[in-house]
Amino acid sequence: MTKTAKYCLTEPCILEILDMTNRIMKEKYPEKMNSILQAIYNRRSVRHFSDDPIDREVLREIIRAGTWAPSGLNNQPWRFALITDENIKKEFEGLTRYWKVIKGARALIGVFIDRDAMYHEVKDHQAMGACIQNILLAAYSLGIGSVWLGEILKSSGEVRELLGLSEQLELMAVVAMGYPAHTEQTSSRIPVEKMIIFDQ
Ligand SMILES: Cc1cc2nc3c(=O)[nH]c(=O)nc-3n(C[C@H](O)[C@H](O)[C@H](O)COP(=O)(O)O)c2cc1C
Repeated sequence: MTKTAKYCLTEPCILEILDMTNRIMKEKYPEKMNSILQAIYNRRSVRHFSDDPIDREVLREIIRAGTWAPSGLNNQPWRFALITDENIKKEFEGLTRYWKVIKGARALIGVFIDRDAMYHEVKDHQAMGACIQNILLAAYSLGIGSVWLGEILKSSGEVRELLGLSEQLELMAVVAMGYPAHTEQTSSRIPVEKMIIFDQ
């Protein structure tokens, strides 16, 4: 341990050291960094987008990746609303404090759970989380930035009404996406050692 490290025991400092370790690992052992791990570690929530539109086929491919998430009994309880129309998007802006993200996004994917397709409250919601994560990772893999918007769930009813959807469809998230305006997003995680609560 160096002298500086001795005085460096605060959480942000530990995170910095771990981040550095990660970077060294990636540089020293690039072969250990396969493309899935690369995407998991490097995907960041993107909230600023360029004006470039996203090809509709690309958006459909991202949704397809969502549908390949695992689900209990393979019941696939997810349903999607793909929104690129500026007028509809504008209506969404009034439903969340993250209206600037919506405004800047080139596409929105409303992710719904179909209550009629469900068999288990917890397991079906877990499947929805896996589906949304697949969407974020697929978007990242195609060079598209995205962010999982949950705050808008307070307006679930309004979203359903706006899109003319039936009662059994419950909003789980809106994913806002577009080509990233920049790649300066950063994030951090609590060291995994602190999260492992049993290990033997
Ligand atoms: C359930 C859930 C709800 C979220 N809601 C919002 C949101 O409403 N607005 C937002 O800007 N980001 C939202 N996020 C994104 C988180 O802020 C982000 O994932 C977290 O800060 C970690 O950053 P990273 O995604 O860049 O690793 C949400 C993420 C999750 C999983």
